[in-house]
Amino acid sequence: MDKFVINGGKPLKGMVRISGAKNAAVAILPAVLLADEPCTIENLPNISDVTAIYRILSDLGAQVRVKNKSTVEIDPRHANSFVVSKQMAAGMRASSYFLGALLGRMRRARVAPPGGCDFGVRPIDQHIKGFEALGAKVVIENGMVEARAEALSGCSVYLDVVSVGATINIMLAAAKAPGLTVIENAAREPHIVDLANFLNSIGANIMGAGTGVIKIRGVEHLGGTTYSIIPDQIEAGTYMVAAAATKGDVLITNVTPKHLESIAAKLAETGAEITEYDESVRVSMNCRPHKCNVKTMPHPGFPTDMQPQIATLLSVADGTSIITEGVWDSRFRYTDQLTLMGADIQVDGKMAVITGVERLSPAPVRAVDLRAGAAMIIAGLMADGVTEVDNIVHIDRGYEDIVEKFTALGADIRRVPAEPAAELLKQA
Ligand code: EPU
Repeated sequence: MDKFVINGGKPLKGMVRISGAKNAAVAILPAVLLADEPCTIENLPNISDVTAIYRILSDLGAQVRVKNKSTVEIDPRHANSFVVSKQMAAGMRASSYFLGALLGRMRRARVAPPGGCDFGVRPIDQHIKGFEALGAKVVIENGMVEARAEALSGCSVYLDVVSVGATINIMLAAAKAPGLTVIENAAREPHIVDLANFLNSIGANIMGAGTGVIKIRGVEHLGGTTYSIIPDQIEAGTYMVAAAATKGDVLITNVTPKHLESIAAKLAETGAEITEYDESVRVSMNCRPHKCNVKTMPHPGFPTDMQPQIATLLSVADGTSIITEGVWDSRFRYTDQLTLMGADIQVDGKMAVITGVERLSPAPVRAVDLRAGAAMIIAGLMADGVTEVDNIVHIDRGYEDIVEKFTALGADIRRVPAEPAAELLKQA
């Protein structure tokens, strides 16, 4: 497997353009199955999770025409299968969106249970609660989740936990279900709003996305459209933290500054200077980071998907910071890797106490999941000397052209096959 080899210690400087949002793309692409006409989706990130969704759509019988690396045309009219096999789901969390999309389209879906990053237990009970409230029967049999309905009809469903995935899946299943569906305690992430905007652009009637109550009046027919995905909040946040962590000065373009407020606020607390423009944000830092406490929460709180990156920055802060993980049960596995680089982090359940050290030192580390992988790259960029990041298949799932983007900012980062990486380390 390829590795990243990073010769760190250089401040990042320059401009980076953010790609389309992974978590919007992986919801909107399955949603195209609800359309009765072809749809063109633009500003897609060129990442392996998106390619995996193209494969699933083709396997289901949809016609997928990739026009260029960020645009695809999908004609769903001949999709006639309702099965997403384990092999097709390929360990991806977003494969679960085919449950909602296929249930909405064909009133039947059989999908391998979702995989994705390992943060402890990742239940789908709230998705199932929503499907059942809409009138479906859901069984888990032979390693597959099967949802089936004679007919679906609008319902009220209260989510016991704020779940992005359940909110999206219920929206998908309800878009064409006759009557009014109300999702209470819905997630409010930017990608939920993007999905609602996409569905509305093809004729759905969805109100309240971005608030805790979403109302969906089912329609009979959904047409076609050309739709452009929002910029990726987490990719942008990752470059913001990398800029601050390397004491750099970076203009991050093609972003929605409103989506970055919680990240910008925390970075400002650490001493970074943040300037917001209409569609870009500039981050610079010229001091040792100040300690600060962070609690992750559903949107608009500080995103859990930025937790490993900010922890990496705080590992060299001028005091002790406490990070509380408010979304996932087990999202601190990566801290062992940071410890290998000299960080001082004590984890107790959903809390990590980070005592700032002077500097990180290079070491061979692993990307234990997608965002943890991004954090390892940031750590490598911070440490003087050569850091090797292994298991980067996770990073490829969510960051487009990461080597090219960091290289353009002055970083010395290379992707190398496993064997040559060992050679380079010997020479360093
Ligand atoms: N939960 C339940 N029951 C459910 C669903 C969720 O108890 O039926 C719990 C989870 O165990 C977790 C919390 O609710 O404790 C939130 O989970 P959520 O359903 O919101 O997460 P998700 O939809 O599986 C998406 C993102 C994740 C991101 C979370 C939280 C996608 C494809 N994934 O996951 O993104 O961490 O929301 O914001 O949108 C990433 O991009 O790196 C990533 C992991």
